[in-house]
Amino acid sequence: GDEDDWSARPPVVTVMGHVDHGKTKLLDALRHTNVVAKEAGGITQHIGAYQIVTELDGVERPITFIDTPGHESFTAMRARGAKVTDIVVLVVAADDGVMPQTVEALNHAQAAEVPIVVAVNKIDKEGANPAKIRQQLTEYGLVAEEYGGETMFVDVSATTRQGLEELEAAVLLTADASLDLRANTEQDPQGVVIEGKLDKGRGPVATVLVQRGTLRQGDSIVAGDAYGRVRSLLDEHGNKLKEALPARPVQVVGLTSVPRAGDTFLVVEEDRTARQIADRRQARIRNAQNAQARKRISLEDLD
Ligand code: GTP
Ligand code: NA
Ligand code: MG
Repeated sequence: GDEDDWSARPPVVTVMGHVDHGKTKLLDALRHTNVVAKEAGGITQHIGAYQIVTELDGVERPITFIDTPGHESFTAMRARGAKVTDIVVLVVAADDGVMPQTVEALNHAQAAEVPIVVAVNKIDKEGANPAKIRQQLTEYGLVAEEYGGETMFVDVSATTRQGLEELEAAVLLTADASLDLRANTEQDPQGVVIEGKLDKGRGPVATVLVQRGTLRQGDSIVAGDAYGRVRSLLDEHGNKLKEALPARPVQVVGLTSVPRAGDTFLVVEEDRTARQIADRRQARIRNAQNAQARKRISLEDLD
């Protein structure tokens, strides 16, 4: 692409933190939705991806949010979430404090060299102690600005909606201050699979994050070892989109099989090419699996 094809794109923000510290509820508050109510046992078990439009200094600014599970068994999802993101919002419940997955999440973010904004949530609750959270996190290198450090801490309540605008502003300020968020909409589309599932009615559905280029309905796509023609693109509300620009999370319908979370996707000129690439990848996976199996068998022979 040409220099001129580069344009500003929304920040991608992954929300992480210990189980039940209020990540999904906070996103519900920002999005005016109620995802929490639909979750089995109130536990997030997959990655959700949404785009909201907020306003800073009178300018409309989209932000892409990725929700992650806090339950300890979902380490891989948290690691992936930290890798695809520009900024991590670390949610810590003010009545509970720094917990094992708080530390795990900030480790993922620091390993990925992603700036962290701390959302001290549940400040409406009795026993909330936001100063203690700031104190605890200094041990992990997150020193609040008001204590002379560089990390933005925002006190929020997903329940009373206190601090939500400040949180959005902190995210945008972090994006503007430390990140060069541009993308080329004219490049060959590429991105990453956030989640794959088999839908009863629609068949394989992949939630992907477009990272460069513009993904369009009708494109021939390869995602991991899955391939197909993009039959439809849907946003998080189920609305059909003609195209998806960089930083846009979108559901892709039309793949012949279900790709895995973390797979990358790309667009090719012809369906035939998509199929060839996918076939080659499938063969490689089969070979690797066979080699594993052979190794297992020969080890068993030794026993
Ligand atoms: P996992 O995804 O399972 O890790 O949980 P989560 O971090 O997404 O937490 P979730 O949004 O499911 O909220 C957990 C519980 O805390 C729910 O009962 C929420 O209603 C409650 N909660 C979340 N935020 C607040 C808040 O700001 N104040 C109060 N009082 N309760 C909150
Ligand atoms: Na929960
Ligand atoms: Mg959740």
